Amino acid sequence: MTSFKGTVLVAGATGKTGVWIINRLQSHHIDYHLFVRSGAKALELFGPEIIDNLTIGSIEHPEEIRAALRHADAVICAIGGKVTDPASPPPSAIDRDGVKRLAQLAKEQGIKHFILISSLAVTRTDHPFNKYGQVLTMKLEGENEVRRLYSEPGFSYTILRPGGLIDGPPLKHSMIFDTGDKIETGAIRRSDVAEVAVISLFISEAHNLTFELIEGKESLQSSLVPFFQQVN
Ligand SMILES: NC(=O)c1ccc[n+]([C@@H]2O[C@H](COP(=O)([O-])OP(=O)(O)OC[C@H]3O[C@@H](n4cnc5c(N)ncnc54)[C@H](OP(=O)(O)O)[C@@H]3O)[C@@H](O)[C@H]2O)c1
Repeated sequence: MTSFKGTVLVAGATGKTGVWIINRLQSHHIDYHLFVRSGAKALELFGPEIIDNLTIGSIEHPEEIRAALRHADAVICAIGGKVTDPASPPPSAIDRDGVKRLAQLAKEQGIKHFILISSLAVTRTDHPFNKYGQVLTMKLEGENEVRRLYSEPGFSYTILRPGGLIDGPPLKHSMIFDTGDKIETGAIRRSDVAEVAVISLFISEAHNLTFELIEGKESLQSSLVPFFQQVN
């Protein structure tokens, strides 16, 4: 299978999922550029060798986003606000407006592929998580803009809606994929979410798809590509 040719901008690369996205891009030999709030945190996590692949900024600031996008042929966004911290910007500023801004500027710049890490249950307005600044509804509004912009011919999107995120290495479980936000609950490793996001760059079954994903049984996997058959 051919991999992705080009450079992938990882927004939120210093987050817990973002770190795994960089790891999986490296393992697929795909070039990347990091968009992060803290250069010091990026250097601490990835070492001095990433200094030339780094743009520092916030998803709240268009000029900083534009500077990061100059290096990109595709975007993977793993940004999420700190919903329980009243000192942080609310989900409306990050998960909705920030994601919309990133998608709009990426489209303006002619970037063809946009991959977004969203969440299970974004369509369930009465879900308990929604009491934190309507975070699920805000994520859905971010998703809607990505779908609107990237459904156009010549462009593609993939929106991943993972269940509760947990830590641990990838490729140790089968996956359950579904569409329509029907999965009630479940968990998944960030590393597997990252792997699925990265393979979504180059497998056509992932293009123009919004899907939920949780882990199934423990079992070693050589690839997560076959699980897309569940939603195609
Ligand atoms: N936790 C769960 O169980 C769960 C379940 C489903 C979906 N999700 C979603 O999955 C995604 C990844 O989750 P995670 O656990 O990896 O999150 P995380 O560790 O909190 O990472 C979030 C990233 O967003 C970055 N960020 C926040 N505000 C930003 C801004 N204004 N500009 C630029 N970057 C900003 C953070 O930067 P810093 O590194 O500088 O802090 C961090 O890198 C999030 O969207 C989350 O909402 C989470």
